[in-house]
Amino acid sequence: MFNFDYYNPTRISFGAGKIQDLDKLVPQDAKVLVLLGGSSARKTGTLDEVKRALGQRESLEFSGIEPNPSYETLMQAVALVKAQQIDFLLAVGGGSVIDGTKFVAAAAMFDGEPWDILLNWGANVTQAMPFGSVLTLPATGSEMNNASVVTHKALKAKLPFRNDLVYPQFSILDPTKTFTLPERQVANGVVDAFVHITEQYLTYPVNAAVQDRFAEGLLQTLIELGPQVLRNPGDYDIRANLMWVATTALNGTLGTGVPHDWATHMIGHELTALYDIDHARTLALVLPALLTVTQAKKREKLLQYASRVWHITDGSDDDKIAAAIDNTRNFFEAMGIATHLSAYNLGAEAVDAVIAQLQAHGMVALGEHQDVDLAMSRDILTLAL
Ligand code: NZQ
Ligand code: ZN
Repeated sequence: MFNFDYYNPTRISFGAGKIQDLDKLVPQDAKVLVLLGGSSARKTGTLDEVKRALGQRESLEFSGIEPNPSYETLMQAVALVKAQQIDFLLAVGGGSVIDGTKFVAAAAMFDGEPWDILLNWGANVTQAMPFGSVLTLPATGSEMNNASVVTHKALKAKLPFRNDLVYPQFSILDPTKTFTLPERQVANGVVDAFVHITEQYLTYPVNAAVQDRFAEGLLQTLIELGPQVLRNPGDYDIRANLMWVATTALNGTLGTGVPHDWATHMIGHELTALYDIDHARTLALVLPALLTVTQAKKREKLLQYASRVWHITDGSDDDKIAAAIDNTRNFFEAMGIATHLSAYNLGAEAVDAVIAQLQAHGMVALGEHQDVDLAMSRDILTLAL
């Protein structure tokens, strides 16, 4: 196992009815900006519940943070924070609203042009506003991590940043808030969490038994509960377990002391920026092809994945790896998520366009060995056609 430092300051308040905890979690004298997506929190009654819990505190709302939150929209929130002397941010929504709030928290206190935060992967953030979140869509893990992904629409660039100053102070996870999700978003959440786990697990062995078994348990939970949530969307226990899987998949625990990949995400971000495909859907397009192309260097972990996660015992090692990749693809398809670019009416021209964007963004040495260069990304995308 590699050496590591582990730090996670986010308090989790989990369960039905937990939104009322906001009264304990938000400072009594705070002037709060509640940040929202399009209209879901208003329609579902979650915003009303939040406002009731905030009680007498002075609060304003900023709505309109879109899926794949844009720099352009978020800068409007930064202006509001400054004009109204807001001192606490509260994200109410999915990963996009929470990621957007992280950017606002950092940008409002940033000296200079805030897009530079993305260009420096967050290393230049030295202060950030305090904030919490009420999660309504289990998927990204943003509610308990220090990462955020922001899209600059004019530049067609979707870039991530990380900084310990943008961990939420707290996140409220009420599984009943997920009952209103459209099936498409439920499926997206399952697949996004699945790929967060594989990005930290399907690399090469470093004798990290705890992280491996933890990852395998989470993957099996998703394989079991993913189809179940589609059949029984009103089942609280399924929702609760999926919510906690998605959080633990990317709250740092799994990724301690092990190599990371993230090539699937970086290639996927370009597909979203260019063609507006949902984040999770881009991952389902890329991962099976990436595992096929990179299987020689991932061989030991792929065999472990085949055996421990999918219980594949027949055939040669090559057969087992092929079967594990097939099962992964079939799982995504069973969740209603296509795994080929053709399903999005994209062809060879899209491969060229994504490669050009990867080059423009310096994404030329991806993966746990930094060997996913542009030629290999091209092979992966071509296989995904
Ligand atoms: O905008 P509203 O009206 O609120 O509707 C949203 C949105 O249309 C809707 N929704 C959310 N909760 C709902 C609901 N509808 C009904 N009932 C509810 N309870 O769902 C739609 C999608 O929401 P969004 O927040 O965009 O989805 P998700 O949570 O999947 O977030 C995706 C974003 O997170 C980034 C992605 O790149 C993408 O930009 N990621 C962030 C990560 C991180 N911070 O660590 C890691 C991930 O890999 C990911 O990259
Ligand atoms: Zn993701």
